[in-house]
This record gives sequence, C-alpha cells and structure tokens, in this order.
Amino acid sequence: MGRGGGGDVLIELDGVRKVFDVRRRTGLLRREKRQVKAVDGISFTVARGEVVGYIGPNGAGKSTTIKMLTGILTPSGGRLRVAGIDPARERTRLAHRIGVVFGQRTTLWWDLPLKDSYGLMRRMYRIPDDRYRRNLGRCVEQLDLGDLLDVPVRQLSLGQRMRGDIAAALLHDPEVLYLDEPTIGLDVVSKAKVRGFLRELNAELGTTVLLTTHDLQDIEQLCERVMVIDHGRLMYDGPLGGLHTVGEGERTLVVDLETEHPPIDLPGTRTVKVEGPRQWLAFPAAESAAPLVAAVAERYPLLDLSVREPDIEDVIARMYAGRG
Ligand SMILES: Nc1ncnc2c1ncn2[C@@H]1O[C@H](COP(=O)(O)OP(=O)(O)O)[C@@H](O)[C@H]1O
Ligand SMILES: [Mg+2]
Repeated sequence: MGRGGGGDVLIELDGVRKVFDVRRRTGLLRREKRQVKAVDGISFTVARGEVVGYIGPNGAGKSTTIKMLTGILTPSGGRLRVAGIDPARERTRLAHRIGVVFGQRTTLWWDLPLKDSYGLMRRMYRIPDDRYRRNLGRCVEQLDLGDLLDVPVRQLSLGQRMRGDIAAALLHDPEVLYLDEPTIGLDVVSKAKVRGFLRELNAELGTTVLLTTHDLQDIEQLCERVMVIDHGRLMYDGPLGGLHTVGEGERTLVVDLETEHPPIDLPGTRTVKVEGPRQWLAFPAAESAAPLVAAVAERYPLLDLSVREPDIEDVIARMYAGRG
C-alpha cells in the first residue's frame, strides 16, 4: 500500500494459493477426503529493505506462506518470485539469497558445539573466509554468542539457541530473512536481544525482513508495515498505525480511586472493568480526555489515573469479531 511501489521489489506474490488434501478418519473403515485452503489467493510485494510483520491467528496460513517463499512447498496456484527466482523451481539457487529461521525447530546440529554448525554452514554455502569471519564476528558480538560457541546446541537454553539459529541464517549474507515465530517461548531478555539485533541488521545492512509472530510487541518495535492474514486471505496490508483506525477507536481511562466503588457512571463513557479500587473507562479515541478527567476528579475520590491508547491486540480482536 504505497510502500514498496517505487523501490526494488524483492518479494512478489500474485494470487498465490496452497491447498492441502487431508484425509480424515470418520469411522472404522471410512475416510473422508477434504481440502484445506491454507493460502487462498494472496497478493503482495515487499521492497528491498522493508521490515514487514505477517500476523494472524493460529492456522491462518502464515507458515505455509513462508514455506512457499523458501521453496519448501510448491504453490497450488498463482505466481511467486523472490529476488526474481521462482522458489519451488530453483530452491537451491534461492537458498543463497535468503535466510530462514523457524522458531519451532532448529537448523543447528544438536550434538555439535555451535561453532561447528557454523563451520558446516560455511562449507555448505561456500562462504569465502573473509566474509565468513566478518559475518560471524558481527553476529557473535551483537547476539552475545561469545561464551556459547563451544557449547553443544542441545545444552543451550531456548533463547540462546534461537540467537544461534539467527546467526546461522545470516552467515551467507542473505538479502532477505524470513523469521517464523522467532520469539516464541523466549524470556524477556532474549526477546529484547533478538529485536535489537534485527533492528540493527536492517539499519546497517539493509536486510529485508519478513516476520511472523504472535507477540505484538515484536511488530510494534520492529515493523512499519504489517499484513494481517486470516483463513488464507489478506485482511489488512499497511502501516502499523493504520490498524488502530480499522476497529472503532476507543481509548481507556484507568482510574485509581481511594476505595472500592460501584462502577463509575459518566455520559459518553463505558465502564469496561472494575478491579477493587481500580476502574477502566472506555471513551471515544477522537475525544479529548480532559473533560472526562475533570468530571471523574470532581465526583469521585481520586488517587491516580492514566490514559491507555488502543493496542493492536484489541484492534485485531475487534477486526476478527467485526467480520462475523
Ligand atoms: N502439511 C499440511 N498438511 C495438511 N494441512 C496443513 C499442512 N500444513 C498446514 N496445514 C493447514 O493449513 C492451515 C494453515 O496452516 P499454517 O500455515 O501452519 O498456519 P499458521 O502458521 O498461520 O498458524 C491450517 O489449517 C493447517 O492445519
Ligand atoms: Mg505457523
């Protein structure tokens, strides 16, 4: 939507579909054949240098899209190009141009020290010495891997392993990095490290990033553009800020009273939650909070208050609800 139009297009999907045939047991000897439209006619482009969030509920088709973009899965229909390459037809050639990280599984060798996995990557991708040293050095420093290089992968914590996996995906200088749930199950510190690293990677090397995640803070902190997918279809493609206007915008006044109190009743507001002396009042986002604050302060014994902007979680929930 506007973005990506003028620049160098790196990823291009036009009406891409993926249908799975699934057989389901419906009785002792009966099997039912069914088709799952995992991706159902998706079109978008990503320009070089963009960091794009790809979000949606479980089973929406995110991982299937990523797998088609790497060539692991062949589309059932439509047209797909990454760096001018048809991924399914030239998977090996494409592998030199892309990096991919699946949060749910590792590409590292389980029993080998981290650095041995990297050595194997270096040979697999035929990475020249100087480039390998430069890229590894950069990852080790920025992902804080120095103390982990001699540790077998199976002894790493999930957060450490994920950082190790991200480094492995970048040793061959890919132009685009796909990350499928890279922060799933990570502790707060590891998440922050991964996010900081991706930001710098994009800023310094201009690496294009396509990121699927359940953690909306990943999106808030990394992506200027977000695509929402549901039931294999694209529901939204645009700037993160635009998501806020999709739902009916409401802000929330969080009020701390001196004591517990029946729900506050003020015109133009809706008390959405009461928890002891704390109450949450929703009001139209477009309206000023000032008169409301004054009215609350005048009528109720007030200790503290704050205004909460709508977060994308609320907005997306409302988007799905609104669609029926
Ligand atoms: N290999 C497969 N065989 C059959 N169905 C699949 C396969 N992979 C994914 N699906 C189905 O396709 C849909 C999309 O799955 P997926 O792309 O993994 O969603 P997401 O990553 O958004 O959670 C789901 O209904 C899932 O069950
Ligand atoms: Mg998935």
